[in-house]
Amino acid sequence: MNEDQGFSTRCIHAGEAPDPTTGAHGVPLYQNVTYAFETYGQVEAMRSGERPHFTYSPRANPTVRCLEAKLANLEGTETAIALNSGMAAISGVLLTTLAGGGHIVASSHLYDQTRMFLTDELPRLGAFSTFVDVADPAAVRAAITPETRAIYAEPFSNPHLQVANLRQLAHIAHERELIVIVDNTFLSPALLRPAELGADLIIHSATKYLSGNGQVQGGVVSGPRRLIEPVRAQSLLLGSALSPFAAWMLLAGIHTLPLRMERHSQNAMRLATLLESHPAVERVNYPGLPAHPNHDTAAAMVGAGDTRFGGMISLSLAGGRPAFGPFLNALRLCTIAVSLGDCSTLVWPWPAGNLIRISTGLEDFDDLARDVSLALDACVPAAVAD
Ligand SMILES: Cc1ncc(COP(=O)(O)O)c(C=O)c1O
Repeated sequence: MNEDQGFSTRCIHAGEAPDPTTGAHGVPLYQNVTYAFETYGQVEAMRSGERPHFTYSPRANPTVRCLEAKLANLEGTETAIALNSGMAAISGVLLTTLAGGGHIVASSHLYDQTRMFLTDELPRLGAFSTFVDVADPAAVRAAITPETRAIYAEPFSNPHLQVANLRQLAHIAHERELIVIVDNTFLSPALLRPAELGADLIIHSATKYLSGNGQVQGGVVSGPRRLIEPVRAQSLLLGSALSPFAAWMLLAGIHTLPLRMERHSQNAMRLATLLESHPAVERVNYPGLPAHPNHDTAAAMVGAGDTRFGGMISLSLAGGRPAFGPFLNALRLCTIAVSLGDCSTLVWPWPAGNLIRISTGLEDFDDLARDVSLALDACVPAAVAD
């Protein structure tokens, strides 16, 4: 694959070639579990490393391999592994990074299941975490101990949309020979390639933007071979391989990733601007808005322009939690649902942070704006409406 090619070209062509046996254009779905050997000699040649041969799909599958090659290319890393969920990717990375104990400095703003894995599971294996505001370099430095092995962050956090300055984190980590682990689910490689900013391991819930249709569950980890191979070896023992069907669906999803991310971002920027000026809204969290406290850091990472900041928004309503019901029940086009990165707009309440999270879809903006505006009109607090 020509590394000089543009990102959209690589989304379509990287990792793919006509099928060597049939010439099929488009990666075939190898939906088989095992592989035939013609002779015992071939088995021996495979075992000695003299002649590669597929053996068992959870170990390696041609369709999954194409997906892994494409993702390594898009993230600009040496290699990648595809797993059966984002949480399989996150737990796989944390279990290998913190094997036998150790410590990790993690952002205090993380996807809640990642945080639960760090706080509930890892201590049972002798590993510990310190949560810090990763926007504060002094706090990050102060949290590092002689046992620390890694720093973990989400560039735009779920669901608060806090911004982590990856270049700064990589600088702090590499001074001490630590690795930086980044969950890039919210932005995808179309908007941010953390390896270019110094991150070592890049994780995705492929269930979200890489798929784009809410039809597949998967996860990916990209990085250097020396860090990915332990995750691969462990995935065999944990049984977390991605299914060939999911890989095949993801390959199709990624073909349109840059176009989708541009439209998600454009709709989200316009929606965030609309939300900002509505009396029913107390606060909007969207790093693309100049009013976001870390807008400049975000823009330095993803680039300037209205189509670079992704599709995720969160907001608090002026009416607080009591306004959740009136707002959500008045939506007609947007769907009340968890998950994100779907082509349709998904809205979900987060009582813990008093937040509503919006995963902005690909609908015509005018339809989206009308639906959200009418729902907000239904929950303007009486004091504001008067
Ligand atoms: C930022 C982030 N990372 C990881 C995950 C976990 O992904 P999965 O549901 O594919 O296990 C999610 C799920 O919502 C997420 O939002």
